[in-house]
Amino acid sequence: MKLMFVLGARPQIIKSALLIHEMSRKPEIELQLVHTGQHYDYEMSQMLFDELELPSPCVNLGVGSGSHARQTGKIMIALERSMLKLKPYMVLVPGDTNSTLAGALAAVKLHVPVGHIEAGARSYDMRMPEEVNRRVTDHCSKFLFAPTHNCVENLTKEGVKGECIHFSGDTMYDVLLYHLPRVLKRDILNRFDLEKDDYGVVTLHRPENVDSPEALKSIVEALIQLEDLDLIFPVHPRAMKMLRRSGLLPHLEKAKHLRLVDPVGYLDMLHLAKQAKIVFTDSGGLQKEAFWLHTPCLTFRERTEWIETVELGGNVLVGSNKDLIVQKAREYLMTKNLKSRLKELPNPFGDGDSSEKIVEVLEESG
Ligand code: UD1
Repeated sequence: MKLMFVLGARPQIIKSALLIHEMSRKPEIELQLVHTGQHYDYEMSQMLFDELELPSPCVNLGVGSGSHARQTGKIMIALERSMLKLKPYMVLVPGDTNSTLAGALAAVKLHVPVGHIEAGARSYDMRMPEEVNRRVTDHCSKFLFAPTHNCVENLTKEGVKGECIHFSGDTMYDVLLYHLPRVLKRDILNRFDLEKDDYGVVTLHRPENVDSPEALKSIVEALIQLEDLDLIFPVHPRAMKMLRRSGLLPHLEKAKHLRLVDPVGYLDMLHLAKQAKIVFTDSGGLQKEAFWLHTPCLTFRERTEWIETVELGGNVLVGSNKDLIVQKAREYLMTKNLKSRLKELPNPFGDGDSSEKIVEVLEESG
């Protein structure tokens, strides 16, 4: 059974890790791992392959960065060629990046069945490129692997046939559980002179925040205002480019409580999130990881596809509103025993066995 697995951006590598291992173990599956090259910096791609002990892709399309149409189009053209050559029985695409969309479109147009990992997530905000990618990918897919029951419901409301939807749980949760013992042993706090439970960790990369000078300024000002909390901020390449361009970088660098560092690896990022007092982020994945690690999260977004984390009380949406960011952060900082309370919450993201469940469905389909 030839299964093509398409990935290209950092979060896709993480959420696919155990699934790739699970598929590699099955003698009847011939895995064709294709990297689109959407992310190409060492820290954004190869470092994760090394940390998560993943096999090298059989093809790297090397498409690199570009506008949405250019990037998606280049991936589609190159993928079509690979699909015609490698003749997969099915194409699997994880997540919601331009690589996901391009993989689904290229495959469905060649009448190759598509399997979507992380199907049914919806922010209901079509200005987010990922929302467009998710919706189109879901409706091109024959196998939709939903991480939560809420995602199953979203798909049902959109008319997707029940027999195509499989509740699997979240593959990112499996990966986190599997690597947690290694995560706990990291020494990144010593390296950056941080105290357990006495700092916040910040990530920022979404276009609506970093490409908008007003939003970026407002978030930067809020972070500068939170001077009673040490903050560590691993800066995504896209955010670094815009912080430089907008002239905001020197202001951040001057703030004594703020430490700007290069993007860190998966294990270090989880260690930082686990031991932090608060996570500040606009990433989809980190909202969930903070939830699983019982660290309160403030999300620089108006909407989220991971609404479960908000409804259960582990996550607050603060957009790019400076006053709201500062106010909610102070509220979190003053709340006693917040982490122990978050530990008591139910987990709607499955039991940590989603990779096995997905592979079972794939095996039965062949
Ligand atoms: C992409 C995904 C997003 C995901 C994010 C995680 C889409 C539409 N977005 O956003 O869903 O959360 O990855 O990181 O697919 N760059 C580098 N080095 C790299 C990669 C990118 O410097 O290895 C810079 C380039 O200037 C590039 C910019 O980052 O133009 C944006 O990269 P891109 O792949 O377009 O989107 P992300 O913002 O990373």
